[in-house]
Amino acid sequence: MKGIILAGGTGSRLWPLTKRTSKQLLPVYDKPLIYYPLSTLMLAGIREILIITTPQDSDDFKSLLGDGKSLGISIKYAVQPKPEGLAQAFIIGEDFIGNNPVALILGDNIFYGSGLGRRLSEVINLDGATIFGVKVEDPNRYGVVETSESGKVISIEEKPSNPKSNKAVPGLYFFDETVSSRAKLVKKSSRGELEITSVIETYLIDDKLKCLNLEVNTVWMDCGTVDSLIDAANFIKSVEHKIHFKIGCIEEVAFRQGWIDRIQLKNLADSLGNNEYAIYLISLLENNSTHVR
Ligand code: DAU
Repeated sequence: MKGIILAGGTGSRLWPLTKRTSKQLLPVYDKPLIYYPLSTLMLAGIREILIITTPQDSDDFKSLLGDGKSLGISIKYAVQPKPEGLAQAFIIGEDFIGNNPVALILGDNIFYGSGLGRRLSEVINLDGATIFGVKVEDPNRYGVVETSESGKVISIEEKPSNPKSNKAVPGLYFFDETVSSRAKLVKKSSRGELEITSVIETYLIDDKLKCLNLEVNTVWMDCGTVDSLIDAANFIKSVEHKIHFKIGCIEEVAFRQGWIDRIQLKNLADSLGNNEYAIYLISLLENNSTHVR
């Protein structure tokens, strides 16, 4: 399976913070926001990743993450000239996806939970599409999925004013290889965007859509607003201090997945200089476990 991180957009809800830089490069406690969705894909075992950015931010992402070789993965880049909707990712990424299933994660979504990687890797061999549902208090801010008692999807709508359920769809989706051709048939919504929910709806019509509940011990955060960004940073700080374990540490995930060896982990730590993050990476070498959390 391949993975796409959608990290474009104007970030206008965060202006002036994001007037000169991408939202996905802003810090969330001790690392840039993009580290979190990238680590989620890596935890799911995905090693071929396309990052889609605005044309003006592309070089910054390249200089931060490079071609991924140092993490034992492959990172390619593409640009989205204008933010015309999430579903455009599958049109821009059509050649990258080729004949493979693909996971899409939004660059401003953070997922955290024990066993998340294992659970995600279980949904990977799929026919059709898999989305998640999470109960929220303000469903009208999100894509909303309505399911029957048996868990079958009845409807999916983008930011409805009268939501049919309180289940939001977080920004992590798994699709089969037909997703690009489906995205090309989708029409722009009234707000002028190619909506991800419209692509998902085509799978629903074909009876090929699965919705899984995100487990209760999994935390999902969308960092699209100033308050949610600071809430996420505070959450990460408090968890990291309590359990002495970093969330979204891409170097650690690469090491625990066995994609880089001890020497490479040491090289990565050395390249970061002398700071708390580098010391954390070095501490992983002292603990011999390569178990993936
Ligand atoms: O966070 C989950 C929600 O994300 C879903 O429930 C919704 O169905 C989905 O539409 C999306 O809603 P948002 O209002 O949060 O989407 P937003 O416009 O904030 O874009 C999400 C990310 O995608 C953000 O990091 C910017 C990036 N983006 C967005 C658009 C519209 C792009 O890279 N290109 C785009 O064209």
